[in-house]
Amino acid sequence: MEDSRIALPIGTTLDRFIKKKQDEFQFATGELSQLLRDIALAGKVVNREINKAGLINIIGPIGAQNVQGEDQQKLDVLANIRFIRALTKGGEACAIVSEEDEEITDLENDGKYVIAIDPLDGSSNIDVNVSVGTIFSIYRRFTPVGTPITKEDVLQKGAEQVAAGYLLYGSSTMLVYTTGHGVNGFTYEPSLGEYFLSHPDMTIPEDGKVYSVNEGGYKSFPKEAKDYIEYCKDSKFTARYIGSLVADFHRNILKGGIYMYPPTSSSPSGKLRLLYECNALAFIVEQAGGVASDGKRRILEIEPDELHQRVPLYIGSKAMVEKAISYYS
Ligand code: AHG
Ligand code: MN
Ligand code: MN
Repeated sequence: MEDSRIALPIGTTLDRFIKKKQDEFQFATGELSQLLRDIALAGKVVNREINKAGLINIIGPIGAQNVQGEDQQKLDVLANIRFIRALTKGGEACAIVSEEDEEITDLENDGKYVIAIDPLDGSSNIDVNVSVGTIFSIYRRFTPVGTPITKEDVLQKGAEQVAAGYLLYGSSTMLVYTTGHGVNGFTYEPSLGEYFLSHPDMTIPEDGKVYSVNEGGYKSFPKEAKDYIEYCKDSKFTARYIGSLVADFHRNILKGGIYMYPPTSSSPSGKLRLLYECNALAFIVEQAGGVASDGKRRILEIEPDELHQRVPLYIGSKAMVEKAISYYS
């Protein structure tokens, strides 16, 4: 058996990488590998749609009305359709919880895995040609195969994830994922239609000087968050906020930094969703050596009780997040 700890070289294709790493899974039967391939494929399709979005907008009202311009055809909904279709065809996933769907989608098959997904993250940035993403979490189903899906299958804490990742549709498109054995990043080469390993064994710098927060909400942030932001300013840190969680997170994981979305008066539990935004990134950041907290609790230990539950989020470089949450104690 191949030693899965052997580092694979930059330029390895995603398919080859997944195949080589399959031995890392305790119960490897190839289904999780296939699931990751399905997600990667849907990511290619969504990447293509996103690249066309600018052209559709350029032709203005015709694009907006005729080329799938009604609400049901917006890119976030289209992305949802693409991912659900890929996951349905694949057969490895038995249920999906998505930002775009109020209820769980039961795929009524014998798949072993449950997916939580934000099909298009940062969608307010799509019209202005700014990076957006997809975030996904993969869990083993909790109830036995052959029975209907229940909320128990989906409402698992983040620590139960078997894999998680994100796609970033940026100046280049990337897939970053973990199966609990480190984090690896792949860059998509559109002319070849392949993802190639470009960021092996990603780690987040232990400390950093970038803080990412929508300071428009400052006045209604809790005192703890305000005090930490003042500390960032006193320390002459740099503010960087794209408004696409995936893009802000990706920058911070590479360069060091903290992303935070504290509670506000309009979002008393913060804005971001535990199941399909925070948990996946928390798993990734921990695998990369960072920290993710809601201020008081490790994100991965929060027991969810609702599909679309929101939580405050402080995530990024270990020293920065620890400093931020020190204001809560
Ligand atoms: P989504 O587009 O999936 O609804 O997520 C948007 C999220 C996240 O990507 C981003 O960091 C945050 O909302 C931005 O919120 P503000 O506009 O309140 O800063
Ligand atoms: Mn989102
Ligand atoms: Mn979204």
